[in-house]
Amino acid sequence: MKRILSGMQPTSQLHLGNYLGALKNWVSFQDKQDTECLYCVVDLHAITVAYEPEVLKKASLEIAAAYIAAGIDPKKSTIFVQSAVPEHSQLMWLLGTMAQMGKLQRMTQFKDKAGKNAERAGLGLFAYPVLMAADILIYKATHVPVGEDQKQHLELTRDLASTFNTKFDIDFFPHPEPVITGPAPRVMSLRDGTKKMSKSEPSDMSRINLTDDADTILKKIKKAKTDPEPLPDSLESLEERPEALNLITLYAALANEAKEDSLKRFAGESFSVFKPAFAELVIESFAPITNEMNKLMQDIDQVQKIVDSGSEKSRDIAAPVLRDVHKIMGLSAL
Ligand code: TRP
Repeated sequence: MKRILSGMQPTSQLHLGNYLGALKNWVSFQDKQDTECLYCVVDLHAITVAYEPEVLKKASLEIAAAYIAAGIDPKKSTIFVQSAVPEHSQLMWLLGTMAQMGKLQRMTQFKDKAGKNAERAGLGLFAYPVLMAADILIYKATHVPVGEDQKQHLELTRDLASTFNTKFDIDFFPHPEPVITGPAPRVMSLRDGTKKMSKSEPSDMSRINLTDDADTILKKIKKAKTDPEPLPDSLESLEERPEALNLITLYAALANEAKEDSLKRFAGESFSVFKPAFAELVIESFAPITNEMNKLMQDIDQVQKIVDSGSEKSRDIAAPVLRDVHKIMGLSAL
């Protein structure tokens, strides 16, 4: 039996990168017979940077609504909020006693987020990967769909699982595997084909948000950076053209076809032909999700109910694991 766990932070709006890089894949896992899926809204991670409590509360439910709107079915998958399952933070402390400062200092995401002011960074930002390890290990998850940028955190998770198992001479935690598949695991910015599409990028023109209307999507795609050459007929010729490669990758992912096939359709055409076709595809793909999301946001109590029941289910898995960890570590019975 496989158990999948993944999560997203409730920070601002979801964009095409979150959809193609994560959500679309998450949906595909829930129909596999031997797989149980847990999808978490990681609000405890979101408070490692500046935030507003009311905004966070709303964003957590919004992300849960986006999961559902994108096709995650609460009857098949468990959708929940991290802070409603206190076992995550409890396990984090226990794993924290085994996490080495030196290894945490090498985490590139910490270095990026702390910037030049690492001395002023909070303990929570530093310990972020330990909480992520706890998110995964508290469910003894076996597979973790993540983007490339999270691979290092997954390695740390495996490392902590090994440290625990070795220290207490027990085969307790599995070694969770990163799952970095899907048609577009790395969705790049519309303004720079070498940078990831990101909600933290200041220019909104760099990304397409799940809530953008058709006109905005068309405008953003028309303005997307490209090069003057027409589209080629083979993928190899795109290697030196990151923007063109990104757009073709996204087109193919949304059209559910191979990149080669998308290229064949547009070989020899200029971007002025490709871009409107691509925009139409994005608009068509997003419309049902955006509609569903708007409906869910009108009925936020229903989303709250789904999340509450998901959190309860998650606690039923997490509580006995934490109890076992306490026993193994010589702590008081829970
Ligand atoms: N750190 C992840 C990100 O920024 C989010 C995350 C937190 C996560 N806990 C997780 C992802 C557990 C997968 C599993 O994308």
